[in-house]
Amino acid sequence: MKYISILGSTGSIGRQTLEVVDQFPDVLQVVALAAGRNREKLLEQCLKHKPLLVSLQLEEDAMWLKEKLNKDKVTPEIFYGLDGLIAAATCPEAAVVVTALSGAMGLIPTCSAIKAKKQIALANKETLVAAGQYVSKLAAVNEVQILPVDSEHSAIWQCLNGEKKAALRKIQLTASGGPFRLLNRQELEQVTPEMALRHPNWSMGQKITIDSATLMNKGLEVIEAKWLFNVDYDDINVVVHPQSIIHSMVEFGDGSIIAHLGMPDMRIPIQYALSYPDRWFNRFPKLNLTELNGLTFEAPDTSKFPALALAYAAGKQGGTAPVVLNAANEVAVQAFLAGQIKFMQIPAIVENTLNNHQFLGSPELEEILEIDRWARQEARKFI
Ligand SMILES: NC(=O)c1ccc[n+]([C@@H]2O[C@H](COP(=O)([O-])OP(=O)(O)OC[C@H]3O[C@@H](n4cnc5c(N)ncnc54)[C@H](OP(=O)(O)O)[C@@H]3O)[C@@H](O)[C@H]2O)c1
Repeated sequence: MKYISILGSTGSIGRQTLEVVDQFPDVLQVVALAAGRNREKLLEQCLKHKPLLVSLQLEEDAMWLKEKLNKDKVTPEIFYGLDGLIAAATCPEAAVVVTALSGAMGLIPTCSAIKAKKQIALANKETLVAAGQYVSKLAAVNEVQILPVDSEHSAIWQCLNGEKKAALRKIQLTASGGPFRLLNRQELEQVTPEMALRHPNWSMGQKITIDSATLMNKGLEVIEAKWLFNVDYDDINVVVHPQSIIHSMVEFGDGSIIAHLGMPDMRIPIQYALSYPDRWFNRFPKLNLTELNGLTFEAPDTSKFPALALAYAAGKQGGTAPVVLNAANEVAVQAFLAGQIKFMQIPAIVENTLNNHQFLGSPELEEILEIDRWARQEARKFI
């Protein structure tokens, strides 16, 4: 039996992780669940999965949950706030922690899980963007494996299985191009949150859906790939593939390209992170190759989607630049969703914040957290 803790169990990845758990009750068991404000969903999850430990963002919600669960004689330990997330991340019974929180708030609990020597199934890419160097070192020192959940990184990981690092020429990271691939710059100025939240191929949480529309998500994934696979930025290429059937590819020095194909269904990479090194048969829909209407590829247009170029530049600069990129983006995305700024202001705010920041080369955790706080304040000035 593999015992699992899920940070962000009420979100898109968290719920799909529980669907995977439902398919494999003989091998997967949930021992800890942590959520934010959705106490009703967490209550439902607790009644079904009977975890040993749960956490919510606020104390009052934790009290509410305790009362409800007591009535049903389900009595997990109940926590709240950052301490609660850390408790779930370090739950003694858990072997694997699925990090499905959204944003850099996942950083501290992920570090706690690594220090507690839990295997990490990483969905929360912002953690690696903000602190890739720090987290990679921490994982190496603690001999902890970070297994990717993001579909592109899971694909790359699977394409690299059994291959020698020296044979690798380039990672070809695929991108759907988002819902606005075909719009011109003028049309992009008029995009509303409702339009941006309609992703053509994937159903995801709000923040990543907006990031997909600006292509910042692909930029964050470039930085994530750098740290997961220890490659140079010049060896990571983004290719737009609107059908989202090839989840990424790896190109080798001999000219061979190995691609990973599958349905655009996050349950597949989530399952692989939990079953690794094995593969399990599941009942999720399968890809029918003869029903595909062609697979196409094109280069991304960074003049329309400057976020991707900003992310490459911040990644290459390293140090605190990706921390600032990520924090400013989180603030700008929230402001866009709240109707306070226009779509094209998102990359502009990120760029302005990056331009104003005082660069540090190899920040420690405290410095990363400090610059993250600074960047959020600075980004708010542009709203
Ligand atoms: N969704 C996808 O298909 C997908 C694919 C690849 C990678 N990812 C990555 O996976 C991560 C999660 O994405 P998502 O789409 O699942 O996000 P999401 O649907 O927004 O879910 C976020 C989760 O975090 C919880 N949360 C938010 N603030 C919290 C707080 N202060 N304390 C405790 N919990 C808090 C939410 O709880 P409540 O809902 O209870 O407030 C929810 O459970 C992101 O880093 C994303 O980039 C997602």
